[in-house]
Amino acid sequence: MTTVYLNGRHLPKEQALIPVEDRGFIFGDGIYEVVRVVEGRIFAWDAHAARMANGLAGLRIDATGADSATLRAACERLIADNGLAGGEATVYLQVSRGAAPRTHHFPPAGTPTTVYAAASPFKVNPALRTQGARAITQPDIRWARCDLKTVNLLGPVLARQAAVEQGAYEALLHRDGMLTEGAATNAFFVLDGVLRTYPLSHYILPGITRQVIMDVLGAIGIGCDERPVPLVDLPRVSEVFVCGTTTDVTPVVAVDGRAVGAGTPGPVTLRIKEAFEQRLYAK
Ligand SMILES: Cc1ncc(COP(=O)(O)O)c(C=O)c1O
Repeated sequence: MTTVYLNGRHLPKEQALIPVEDRGFIFGDGIYEVVRVVEGRIFAWDAHAARMANGLAGLRIDATGADSATLRAACERLIADNGLAGGEATVYLQVSRGAAPRTHHFPPAGTPTTVYAAASPFKVNPALRTQGARAITQPDIRWARCDLKTVNLLGPVLARQAAVEQGAYEALLHRDGMLTEGAATNAFFVLDGVLRTYPLSHYILPGITRQVIMDVLGAIGIGCDERPVPLVDLPRVSEVFVCGTTTDVTPVVAVDGRAVGAGTPGPVTLRIKEAFEQRLYAK
């Protein structure tokens, strides 16, 4: 029986119900996280919890009941209760501004938030990781606070659907002529022999995987220029990879049907991928 966490209680998934007036449903008024679990160990918990706290503060959602210790305990029990302490899993967490009669402005102070979490088994797709993925480019139509991990995901939903319809794994988004990130990943490029990625700003999500990679890069002696790559320079890019909690480091070997470099995962990508996986699996 699958159990989930809802507002302080662990209960069977079928019994976890939220009111139709929940602002997560009506407005997409909430914050979410996805964490990776390897052999029962939550990867980079503190960083995920900090991003969630930052997101709740950014949206001015009351963080009562959504503090790091409470959520971590909920995740750990979900992992144990759902038989996910061996192998790999993910936990999805969401906090919405709660249920109240529909008004654009905030509901009355004291309206309880909705705090939800659920664990699922996770399986890496080895072909994607080793042979690489295809991507397409798409205009970045998202709002101007992409640094907040809100449940309002229509831009990424439409971009990913376009990718899937074109037989690709990911959509690389571009805004003002610059490649920002993937629909649900951060993106790195090798241009003129230099590793580059979009700088932290309101226009990308501060990915936890990106953060771990930055740390790993220091350890393996690869520099990274946090400077946007112009879309027009894409044909000159020799390597691309995307990264995220469920994507790890995934090489991108073709964009818009054109091979990236030799059309196989490049040497810089492979070194970073190896070093990242050592961290993730704590080899
Ligand atoms: C837009 C976007 N960028 C980047 C990422 C990667 O972030 P993380 O490494 O924290 O999973 C995600 C993950 O969902 C995302 O949605």
